[in-house]
Amino acid sequence: MYRSHTCGELGIKDIDREVTLSGWVQKVRDKGFVVWIDLRDRYGLTQLVFDEERTPKQLLEQAKALGRETVVRVLGTVIERASKNPNRTTGEIEVLVKELSILNKALLPPFTIEDETDGGDDLRMKYRYLDIRRTPIRDNLIFRHTVTMEVRNYLSAQGFIEVETPYLIKSTPEGARDFLVPSRMNEGQFYALPQSPQTFKQLLMVGGMDKYFQIVKCFRDEDLRADRQPEFTQIDCEMAFVEQEDVLQMFEGLTRHLLKAIKGVEIGPFPRMTYDEAMRRYGNDKPDIRFGMEFGELNAVAQHKDFNVFNTAELVVGIAVPGAASYTRKEIDKLIDWAKRPQVGAKGMVYVKCNEDGTFKSSVDKFYDQEDLAQWAKITGAKTGDLILILSGEANTTRAQLSTLRMEMAERLGWRKPDEFAPLWVIDFPLLELDEATGHYHAMHHPFTSPKPGQLELLDTDPGAVRANAYDLVLNGNEIGGGSIRIHDKETQAIMFKHLGFTPEEARAQFGFLMDAFQYGAPPHGGIAFGLDRLVAILGGQETIRDFIAFPKNNSGRDVMIDAPATIDEEQLKELHLKVDA
Ligand code: AMO
Repeated sequence: MYRSHTCGELGIKDIDREVTLSGWVQKVRDKGFVVWIDLRDRYGLTQLVFDEERTPKQLLEQAKALGRETVVRVLGTVIERASKNPNRTTGEIEVLVKELSILNKALLPPFTIEDETDGGDDLRMKYRYLDIRRTPIRDNLIFRHTVTMEVRNYLSAQGFIEVETPYLIKSTPEGARDFLVPSRMNEGQFYALPQSPQTFKQLLMVGGMDKYFQIVKCFRDEDLRADRQPEFTQIDCEMAFVEQEDVLQMFEGLTRHLLKAIKGVEIGPFPRMTYDEAMRRYGNDKPDIRFGMEFGELNAVAQHKDFNVFNTAELVVGIAVPGAASYTRKEIDKLIDWAKRPQVGAKGMVYVKCNEDGTFKSSVDKFYDQEDLAQWAKITGAKTGDLILILSGEANTTRAQLSTLRMEMAERLGWRKPDEFAPLWVIDFPLLELDEATGHYHAMHHPFTSPKPGQLELLDTDPGAVRANAYDLVLNGNEIGGGSIRIHDKETQAIMFKHLGFTPEEARAQFGFLMDAFQYGAPPHGGIAFGLDRLVAILGGQETIRDFIAFPKNNSGRDVMIDAPATIDEEQLKELHLKVDA
């Protein structure tokens, strides 16, 4: 028998009990006449004790010689500790060891396996299995499991059926590049790994499944960031016979349930904001609304003087940073430098200090008088003691820059609190997005999203103005989910493909199966997909998803532990028809 108990459960109630424990040696503290060892397993730490008085000499020596991470089994008696550790669940007891067997030796680990480790990112990734032994990562994985179980139970109770869809498919466009898999049996042909199960879940609706969900891996070959992995997990959902309101209600319910069950937070009806409003008020389609600092557009009150930078700008826009009027000249200069970094890209920044005595001091005092500045303060909502920061230029770019600045200021002010949750539905997204580089429109969500009722005609005259039946769920400034009501008839789908630049032949070759299916009684349907990794990370109070994934890829898309991707041998290349014989 390896164990009667785990390393996380023994307490005062167990005094005098004979127990067997198995686990890893986390730490050996050798005081000569007494040796303490922290024994670790998934459930916690238990202190083992060996001493000159009560432990046979040979066993004491054996304990002293144990190396970190050795796997051992011990048999002993639970005794009360002389000095208790209130920070540990097992902190009131220790186990006086009678027998010790080494189950496996361990090399010296490349970093310390404790809550605070000395291991850098790369090293921890290379030895991820050791990193997983550390409490923070272990707890994140357990947390992920808890969230996933809540999701499954909730959706199942609501009548959703989990159905698996294939991974070896054909391209499902979600805006990224496909990962491709060569087919051995079909020379010169490739499968694509799904960017999402989008088309399959729609086919399940045609198949009458009515309410589908799947916790599913998706694959996207795109540039990586803290909140993006090349393979990630979606909570993918679809419902038949629904309108947008039905979908929003259902998944607001799921999100509210998770916040309550996991975080104990009760949240009322989620606010909703159109895409246009979000861009105007926050310069962003996923605004963090835990705090204010809303945009104030200043064109009307700033473009009448001789300040050419503003006069020639498409947009002049500012935010009021509370209490920041006390910033010194040096601090403001540093902030301006920050905004000018290529990652933000501002050309410059104008500021106005709203002094305690009601006067204003700006970096453009030469051009604007106190009355002008008072108007700016009114529009940005600045109070005395605030600092107004203003950017100008091409509208979209300037909004994006000010949005980045707003988030940075919130971070510095400590307003991005991890235990505060502010969900938001962003609705009425544009259906199409103009690709500046090519001059072509592409689907902002995906090509299966329906235009809002009555807007189909607009596609010919003003495609950029067409709004979609599409929605995103935003949580604390992160897009955690997105979905839409779908097109469910062949004609509309054909019109969409045409506007996206597909010839009828191309549309047929790529999506013929879907258009065909629509001819056999496709019900109206719609759905949503949540990013599970993001949802879990944010509920866990973080924004980096990597720490909530057991075996993540690094920023170059590599798994440094197994060393993938890797080259393959000539034979395999040939078999896959990827190598032409010389
Ligand atoms: P979308 O492309 O918006 O929609 O994806 C849904 C959600 O998945 C998450 N996500 C990611 N998470 C981690 N790494 C990535 N690379 C990554 N890409 C996306 C985001 C996002 O909100 N088929 C549609 C859904 C639908 O219409 O029902 C889709 O995939 O949190």
